[in-house]
Amino acid sequence: MKFFIRFKIIFLKIIKLNISFLKKEISGYPETVKKFEKQFSEFIGKDYGITFCNGTSSIEAAIYAINFSPNDQILVTASNFHASIGPIKNLKCMPIFVDIDKDTLTIDCEDLKKKINNKSKGILIVHPWGYPCNMDEIVKIAKENNLKLIEDCSHAHGASYNKKRIGSFGDISIFSLQGGKSVAAGEGGIALTDNKEYFLRMSTYGHFDRHKENLINNNEFKKFSKTGISKKLRAHPLGICLANVDFDNLHIINNYKEKIYKKIDEIIISYKTLNTMKINIKAERGGYFSGYPIIFNDINKISKIKEKFKKFKINLIENPWFLTHKLEIYKDSNCDLPVTEKINNLFFLIRIPYFLNFNFKNLKNCLIECKKDDLIN
Ligand SMILES: Cc1ncc(COP(=O)(O)O)c(C=O)c1O
Repeated sequence: MKFFIRFKIIFLKIIKLNISFLKKEISGYPETVKKFEKQFSEFIGKDYGITFCNGTSSIEAAIYAINFSPNDQILVTASNFHASIGPIKNLKCMPIFVDIDKDTLTIDCEDLKKKINNKSKGILIVHPWGYPCNMDEIVKIAKENNLKLIEDCSHAHGASYNKKRIGSFGDISIFSLQGGKSVAAGEGGIALTDNKEYFLRMSTYGHFDRHKENLINNNEFKKFSKTGISKKLRAHPLGICLANVDFDNLHIINNYKEKIYKKIDEIIISYKTLNTMKINIKAERGGYFSGYPIIFNDINKISKIKEKFKKFKINLIENPWFLTHKLEIYKDSNCDLPVTEKINNLFFLIRIPYFLNFNFKNLKNCLIECKKDDLIN
């Protein structure tokens, strides 16, 4: 059945791509793009959706739309893909790095509260690897401190918190649609909001000759009604055509992946020195970007563990995220992030094969051998 679904998705992508191509839906804003924007925003529960050429531009458009002032502080975790942080700096705001919680590896709400001051204007959260952040607490903190909330949901298409979709909590939420994501345009992104003003500002940031009727009737935006701000960051319609197929099948694939994740949860729970990300209370995983998170506890044993996984042909991926706050660009940030730093070299992802044929027996045997060789306990 799993094979069948994946083949169906591949087949549909080929057919729909060719139809779109033959209909010359190869640039601009054909029906495919408009339909995706509408259906995706409805699915998440937001009024407006606008696509971009990638997730990075969507984040930048979101920050631009909120109209922060120079040097406004935006609180963000450091253990992210750099695209969640770079746009803050590009738009002259200041990223303030927050640690992650030792169990859930999502933003640490206690550290977040400690780092808020009168220059703080926004919070940008990432739901890492498909695991939702503690949204009750984050929404409360944002409200109490009058902070705008941006959700980067690039790993978490279809995840939820308290039965509400991830992406429905922020003032603006964004999703990358890059090729590895569970809704993949190859390259692409989408930003969602309930706020019409933010939506129009995002439109002027990356689009031109679009939403003209709305822009012309607005004093602030009318000067951009023909040209936007002269950035062209729109999505490729053929990519969006591919994303549409994934979107139609998201629920089914997410269900399969959840079953796989649950079985792996059960396998690793019996090892004291193996950990995974704890799921926040009320959260349901989704999107499952990149692989199943696994955390080892002894840095000196990692190279031997990697050899074992290789022997058993289990694809163990090193943490693709680095310590962003240590980069030359952010050297002024001067922050203390003990959990982020401790976990960085101990964190790995077990890749789930595209056809979802994960070999549980192999994983079990691999871990038994690891234990026999005193690599884990
Ligand atoms: C959490 C996160 N945010 C943003 C991005 C950027 O998305 P894109 O590659 O589409 O620009 C990525 C890319 O993987 C990501 O992982």
